[in-house]
Amino acid sequence: MVNESKTIVSSWNEWDPLKHVIVGRAEGAMLQAPEPAVYRDFTKDGFPYGTWGPMPEERVAKAVEQLDNFAGILEKRGIRVDRPEPLDFSQAVQTPDWKQESMLGCMPPRDVLLTVGNEILEATMSHRSRWFEYLAYRPVLQKYYAEDPNFRWEAAPKPRLSARTYKKDWHKIWNDLSEEQRSQKAEASDWLITEVEPLFDAADIVRFGRDLFVQYSMVTNDAGIRWLSQHFSDHRIHKIRYKEMQPWHMDSTLVPIRPGLVVCNPARPVLTPKVMELLEKNDWEVIWAPKSVLTEKRPLCYCSIWLNMNFLVVDPNTVCVEASETPMIEELEKHGIEVIPVPFYDVVMFGGCLHCATADVYRVGTLEDYFPNQVEGF
Ligand code: ARG
Repeated sequence: MVNESKTIVSSWNEWDPLKHVIVGRAEGAMLQAPEPAVYRDFTKDGFPYGTWGPMPEERVAKAVEQLDNFAGILEKRGIRVDRPEPLDFSQAVQTPDWKQESMLGCMPPRDVLLTVGNEILEATMSHRSRWFEYLAYRPVLQKYYAEDPNFRWEAAPKPRLSARTYKKDWHKIWNDLSEEQRSQKAEASDWLITEVEPLFDAADIVRFGRDLFVQYSMVTNDAGIRWLSQHFSDHRIHKIRYKEMQPWHMDSTLVPIRPGLVVCNPARPVLTPKVMELLEKNDWEVIWAPKSVLTEKRPLCYCSIWLNMNFLVVDPNTVCVEASETPMIEELEKHGIEVIPVPFYDVVMFGGCLHCATADVYRVGTLEDYFPNQVEGF
């Protein structure tokens, strides 16, 4: 079914009824060339440390099939789906400051595009291989700009990503640490990027109407959080830290379903307890996510096994969940939620699951305050 509805850009949260969405693509995706921010070692999957190249053809084919199937499921429900246009991601890219031997791809649109109300903001990104990724979304953004006179098209300042942006030899140092030392570093949130310039990935932001929760992470720094606070000055921005080994992107850590109901990750202790206070003070119920059916990471996958939480809410009573994740499906059903099972574990090595794989264009709803009782100093 082709949805010919008028283009409207608007989305204030993660749960209002979804009408229009972007779904990423796996075509041309790369295991990216090394860069200061990226350390990949997939020796047993054919990519030992330092090597890089196109993702294996048969993996791309399977991912394309699952992504297309997911897009079809959404379209059958009357949701308009757009797709990015892949570039030649195998090409080297450069700026006056650096040269990077390859790009990454355009699978997780959630990392790049942040929709807040009638605005879509292109994130800074903090990996050199992802510096130009916004170009894959320009064809659709240009179209929205032509079709919706109210669409506000924004881009955050492009970062330099010079050597000064990264702590020197961070990954090398991390690799040599004991578990105890890693735990201390995690406790201190002593992550890779410096504060010389604002940096954030869009997936470190979770939208709850007037409140935007932003994770301090391997890809989002304080300067970036400050930039977001200034930019979204009508919102309340809450900085959140979790004790996770190398956190990046909050959409498998704190995931709202609808007003008053949120899923939290039991393996990631919160280092900013005021977030729990805020939820409690406003009568939000917390579901502690059940364990994933995965016992180890999928091949070539740099995400954790918590992608059972990385689901896409289609409306406050309907959620797309990875089809094999029975414990999560049962947990949501217990809360009266209708689950749409979507096979997706052949996609996750391209950057994430169902939430990552999408970016909101239109959810029917308005800006609301879901946390009238604020917590001081948060
Ligand atoms: N850091 C998350 C985890 O490994 C992965 C989330 C991926 N999210 C995304 N938007 N690409 O659990």
